[in-house]
Amino acid sequence: MNLLSATNLSHSFDYELFNNVSLELNRKESIAIIGISGSGKSTLLHLLSTLLKPDSGTVELLGEDILSMKPKKLSLLRRNELGLIFQSHYLFKGFSGYENLEVAEILAGEPIEEELLERLEIEHCIRQKVTELSGGQQQRVSIARVLTKKPTIIFADEPTGNLDKVTAGEVMELFFEYIHKHKAAMVLITHDETLAHMCDKVYKLENKELIRVK
Ligand SMILES: Nc1ncnc2c1ncn2[C@@H]1O[C@H](COP(=O)(O)OP(=O)(O)O)[C@@H](O)[C@H]1O
Ligand SMILES: [Mg+2]
Repeated sequence: MNLLSATNLSHSFDYELFNNVSLELNRKESIAIIGISGSGKSTLLHLLSTLLKPDSGTVELLGEDILSMKPKKLSLLRRNELGLIFQSHYLFKGFSGYENLEVAEILAGEPIEEELLERLEIEHCIRQKVTELSGGQQQRVSIARVLTKKPTIIFADEPTGNLDKVTAGEVMELFFEYIHKHKAAMVLITHDETLAHMCDKVYKLENKELIRVK
C-alpha cells in the first residue's frame, strides 16, 4: 500500500495553477518538489496534506480517500499520522520551545527525545520563549515538535529556508534517518536543488504540470 496516492489533481485560484497532477509516495521514500515561486507548490502540498480540497482529482492517505472522510476521522488522521512543517504553522508564541514540544508530547503520547534536541542543536535554547529565538532556531523547534509526534507522513514546505547550508544538510539527514527508522515518508518543497536531489525522487512544477526530473 502506498502511503500517499494522488490522482489527476487540478486546482485554480484566479487562474489555473496545475492540472492532472498525479503522485505516489511509498514507505521510506522521500520526494522533493521544486518550481519557481508562484508555480503552485504550496497549494499542491495543501491538497496532499488535507488542508485544501482540490477542484478535481483524488487524494488517498494510508489507503483512504481523504475527500470523503468524515471531519472527526480527518482530524484524527491529521493528529496521529501527518507531520506538517509549514511556515504558517506557528509555534505557540507565549510558550517556551520546550513547552511547545510538551504539547506534542501530550497530544501524541510520545516522549520528547533528548537526542532529537541535540541533533537539531536546540538543547541549549529550548527553555527560552519562542519569541526570543532566532528564525532558524524557531524553524528547528518546529521540526522537533513535528518529529516528536512520530508522524507517518511528513509534509514540509521549505523547512530549512532559514538555516545555513551546513545546518540545512544536517536537518535533511535527520529527516532521512527518521523516515527509515519509523517506516515513514516525506514530501518536501524546496527551492534548493542540492537539497532536493538528496531525496529519492524529484519533481518540478512547471507549465501547470508536475514533471519527474529524478
Ligand atoms: N488562498 C489563496 N487564494 C487565492 N490565491 C491563492 C491562494 N493561495 C495561493 N494563491 C495563489 O496561487 C499561486 C500559487 O501560490 P503557491 O501555491 O503559494 O505557489 P508557490 O508555493 O509555488 O510559490 C499564487 O499566485 C498565489 O497568489
Ligand atoms: Mg510556497
